Amino acid sequence: MNTALNESTVHARIKAPASPPRLPLTATDKAEMKQRIKRLLVEQNAVLVAHYYVDGDLQALAEETGGHVADSLEMARFGNDSDATTLVVCGVRFMGETAKILNPEKRVLMPDLAATCSLDEGCPADAFSAFCDAHPDRTVVVYANTSARVKARSDWVVTSSIALPIVKHLHAKGDKLLWAPDKHLGHYVQRMTGVDMLLWDGACVVHEEFKGFALNQVRRLHPDAAILVHPESPEEVVQQADVVGSTTQLIKAVTDLPNQKFIVATDQGIFWKMHQLAPHKTLIPAPTAGEGATCESCAQCPWMAMNALQNLEQVLLRGDREIHIEESIRQRALLPIQRMLNFARGHGIGARRNSD
Ligand code: 13P
Ligand code: SF4
Repeated sequence: MNTALNESTVHARIKAPASPPRLPLTATDKAEMKQRIKRLLVEQNAVLVAHYYVDGDLQALAEETGGHVADSLEMARFGNDSDATTLVVCGVRFMGETAKILNPEKRVLMPDLAATCSLDEGCPADAFSAFCDAHPDRTVVVYANTSARVKARSDWVVTSSIALPIVKHLHAKGDKLLWAPDKHLGHYVQRMTGVDMLLWDGACVVHEEFKGFALNQVRRLHPDAAILVHPESPEEVVQQADVVGSTTQLIKAVTDLPNQKFIVATDQGIFWKMHQLAPHKTLIPAPTAGEGATCESCAQCPWMAMNALQNLEQVLLRGDREIHIEESIRQRALLPIQRMLNFARGHGIGARRNSD
């Protein structure tokens, strides 16, 4: 097996923003707001495309209004397949950008354009481009959690649900890879495939908080529980997993495995869908406390948490907070995204709706 070269160019620890202050809604306020949002969606021929980490109210609303709740690969596909003229992406900025790259003729709105991602923030396009220039012999594979400009510099885009098959395919062709930005996902893919990978030094501030030692203690308390881990988590957490996978794959594990209990190492927003599909199963959050913990994020992505009913209604009323991407960048970024979607189609990966 080839050894990964861990070459770090830009890695400052990204500070997670504080949760935005919002007045709590009463049950009546909430119900009325949801009705107004539903009317606005119809009036504007708009559809909600939400990630599993956003608030359960938004996930429910997306499902009730013909929208979609999904992982980042399926969000991209749904937006592409939808007839709506406006896509309202409830998630983080790279998801809105991917929707716009694939659907330039559609209006793509987001409740808060400042909802970014520590992986995206930790991989500035200029520094990344210089890193690629220094290694012209390598195929550039970037995780979807990157800006349009970084994608435009890549050969392939991958999400966590398709990273392994694509990298296996590239490895079989004899390619050496340059991988960015998530070093934990990169290490995992490298361990699983043996490919020669040069890694960018980025991390998710949410998944990095999961602690291997503390997880081992929780496991002992629940020996019958299956351990589900998103591959953005550190190696000592991934190594204890029964299932490592994307958000969709972890949700599927809860419905498909015979276990009654699950210890879940990913953002807690995913519990809404897990509870919906498997209401009688017990879900235990993996520990973020323990030695070395700073618990800034505590298993809740601060950027995903910027999405709420209030700013969703505002963006539908005002039509501001629209994603725009320079056309030359969009066209260049489209190629590696399309390559990923074509690969997924050709290999029968994904395209499974929540209700299936
Ligand atoms: P998925 O593609 O698995 O939904 O992951 C997106 C993400 O940002 C996880 O932190
Ligand atoms: Fe980015 Fe991590 Fe938030 Fe996912 S959970 S959007 S990787 S910061």
